[in-house]
Amino acid sequence: FGCHSFGCFFDEFPAQLPYATCADYPVFTPSILVVKFGDPTAASCSVCERCIDNIFNLESPVGLTSINGTTMFWTVERLTKWLTSPICYYNTDTDVQCCTILPITVYQPPDNVSVSFVDHTAPMFEGKQYTLQCTVEEVAPVKNLLVTFYRGQTALGQLQSKNNNPKPVTETFSLNITLSKEDNGVQYWCEAKLELGPYGPQLPPVETSQTITATVFCESDTTTPTQPLQLNCSALGNSGPSYTWTLPSGSPFTSSSSVLTINSATFADEGKYTCSVSNDVGTATVELNVEVRGAVPSFFS
Ligand SMILES: *[C@@H]1O[C@H](CO)[C@@H](O)[C@H](O)[C@H]1NC(C)=O
Ligand SMILES: *[C@@H]1O[C@H](CO)[C@@H](O)[C@H](O)[C@H]1NC(C)=O
Ligand SMILES: *[C@@H]1O[C@H](CO)[C@@H](O)[C@H](O)[C@H]1NC(C)=O
Ligand SMILES: *[C@@H]1O[C@H](CO)[C@@H](O)[C@H](O)[C@H]1NC(C)=O
Repeated sequence: FGCHSFGCFFDEFPAQLPYATCADYPVFTPSILVVKFGDPTAASCSVCERCIDNIFNLESPVGLTSINGTTMFWTVERLTKWLTSPICYYNTDTDVQCCTILPITVYQPPDNVSVSFVDHTAPMFEGKQYTLQCTVEEVAPVKNLLVTFYRGQTALGQLQSKNNNPKPVTETFSLNITLSKEDNGVQYWCEAKLELGPYGPQLPPVETSQTITATVFCESDTTTPTQPLQLNCSALGNSGPSYTWTLPSGSPFTSSSSVLTINSATFADEGKYTCSVSNDVGTATVELNVEVRGAVPSFFS
């Protein structure tokens, strides 16, 4: 059932409304409720004092109702319904129904808020556009959610959902940004705030994501030579007559030197290198994983 400015309607016969204006409408106190899912809540409704002899009532699918004079009290121990709007009405002497609905917003702060770059496993380059994603899990009502993306302490943009679902939903918000080399090492994060208005909690529920640090490579790193990369295999101990290197491409490479030098390391040189050395005693092999970071290649074994 619901309410119109000229009367109540019930599901069974919403079309049969007598058009009439009511002199007084029942008054709910408070007139709007904002309740956290599972919390207790209460409201009262008063109808005009001269209506005491008419039919009047407060109807709700949940909670308990009591009456004192022309005032009705509605209490709920634990509000666990996402759509609940009590209705309060009285019938006039000419059987017109005058009614008021109590709008209730049932909210639930998000379970989890997380931020990521789409395709974050691939290296990111300056001057290219990337998509930041903020995933907000199980929040209600999502239309009251305000998502803000941050770069350090600077807000980059705010997004809202168009979804009207009153029940908890998980939604992902996206923001396109173009990275510059100043973004290298900068932290990105997002914040999800439930804006519940003046009837909501004094401090709106806010959840923040983890922070992610952008590693931004210079465009030049892919195309122009950077620094020489040296892999040293001497640590294997006794030197042998020759060393066999296997490159990330899989091709073997035999050298009399225990040091492999790549004059200009680029991302193409990333990967697993193995070095083996044979002598009278046997064969020893070491694996080196090379990671190329910006202009400075590094390796570890
Ligand atoms: C009903 O309301 C009257 C007037 O406000 C008050 O004096 C009385 O105690 C109330 N009765 C109950 C049972 O709450
Ligand atoms: C939140 O979500 C992220 C990304 O899915 C996940 O790594 C993290 O463990 C989650 N945290 C909690 C508290 O569930
Ligand atoms: C981000 O950019 C991609 C690719 O250019 C585009 O398809 C998408 O609509 C953009 N998203 C937003 C939120 O602007
Ligand atoms: C390689 O490592 C060995 C032993 O740690 C060291 O003596 C040698 O100087 C290194 N060679 C180069 C070129 O760094």
